[in-house]
Amino acid sequence: MPPLSNLATRDVETLVHPYTNLSGFRDSGPLIIERGQGVYVYDTEGKPYIEAMAGLWCTALGYGNEELVEAAATQMRKLSFAHLFTGKSHDPAIELAEKLKEIAPVPISKVFFCNSGSEANDTQVKLVWYLNNALGRPSKKKIVSRVKAYHGVTIVAASLTGLPANHRDFDLPLPGFLHTSCPHHYRFAQDGESEEQFATRLAEELEALIVKEGPDTVAAFIAEPVMGAGGVIVPPKTYFEKIMKVCEKHDVFMISDEVICGFGRLGTAFGCEKLNFKPHSISIAKALSSAYLPIAGVMIPESVYQALLAESKKIGVFGHGFTYGGHPVSAAVALKALEIYARDKIFATAAARAPQFQARLAALNQHPLVGEARGLGLIGGVELVADKRDKRSFAPQHGVAAKAVQFAEAEGLIVRAVLGDVLTLCPPLVISAAEIDDLFDRLSRALDKTLDWVNAGRLAQT
Ligand SMILES: Cc1ncc(COP(=O)(O)O)c(C=O)c1O
Repeated sequence: MPPLSNLATRDVETLVHPYTNLSGFRDSGPLIIERGQGVYVYDTEGKPYIEAMAGLWCTALGYGNEELVEAAATQMRKLSFAHLFTGKSHDPAIELAEKLKEIAPVPISKVFFCNSGSEANDTQVKLVWYLNNALGRPSKKKIVSRVKAYHGVTIVAASLTGLPANHRDFDLPLPGFLHTSCPHHYRFAQDGESEEQFATRLAEELEALIVKEGPDTVAAFIAEPVMGAGGVIVPPKTYFEKIMKVCEKHDVFMISDEVICGFGRLGTAFGCEKLNFKPHSISIAKALSSAYLPIAGVMIPESVYQALLAESKKIGVFGHGFTYGGHPVSAAVALKALEIYARDKIFATAAARAPQFQARLAALNQHPLVGEARGLGLIGGVELVADKRDKRSFAPQHGVAAKAVQFAEAEGLIVRAVLGDVLTLCPPLVISAAEIDDLFDRLSRALDKTLDWVNAGRLAQT
């Protein structure tokens, strides 16, 4: 391992890095990014990388967008902070909430602003609990999520998340948070089961879970349209239609976590539009501001708003809110991002680029290391396996996908490795056709090098 640079050493001695093997990291050190432009970021040596993860699934408009920078600077000069507590308000938050209501895929009454996807999902759960208290059904409080779901890391959001690393030794999930089956056909369908049959079985399993727990105890079901951090899992055909029927039957509130899929990722404004379901409420974050500043929100239906009114009357206050929720500078940037999405037809452009992106992704299925290359719109996952025929995974200690990430970085490409040796791709929506080709050319070379490394170490055998 080459010695760490001065800046890298200072990093190792001062920062705790999220989602990092903190022990191995002491030797490898960080990749320090200095600046960005378009779909590229540059490290401290000036080396360019295609940012094929849009940061963390979020920089939809890429880097260096002057309009967004200007929107922030202008608002910061005019009013650098104002809040929405105790009846105060400001123009950017009002306008942003109006715009969001206009483009919402389902009837939305109000918007509640917060700062992160985790806060949005925590808020969703609190609102559902409030709703059921207001409706006089205090035992209807359990929340159903899914194995491999990702909904964030605060205590409730991490309880919704269905990934072992977010639970283990954190004493999570909390009681009352349940996880139904993951809708991943490649991994979990039975022999010969079609996508539709698999979807039917999953809906039946959800119903069996609700009935076992008691429908009068199950409050809500939460889902990402396409699962992101769990490995980019596109649900089987007819999945959401069938799940929605089960939720309707048992009066279970349905929440779409659109933190990744919202704002064009699947080629539609919201992921639920692409996957054909109508949630009651929606969590938004990330591309809402194209990640130029933190802002998130919950899009709330009238039924929940009525519950908030009733509880406020009873208790005297709606006792929830974050200091920076709806921050005027973040809201001004988000408003500008929404303006650019509409003006430049960014969602339609993403939809138009999707066939090329998905064709290049699907071609990776021919690679000897790839068990399944899958995706929708401008998101993709590449699952690496030791044996394509029986879908056998590599032993986790080999860190095969993590190694592929390093080879990709050497090629000037940033991708991410998630649990189960899946490489994830989620480029800025403004990526050009030539940049998509370049991205996959680099990824193919990285996969070839990973294969050589796997063969040299005979890692597929052990
Ligand atoms: C679908 C989904 N929900 C929630 C979150 C949590 O968002 P945050 O990291 O902003 O708390 C994420 C983050 O990646 C996400 O992908």
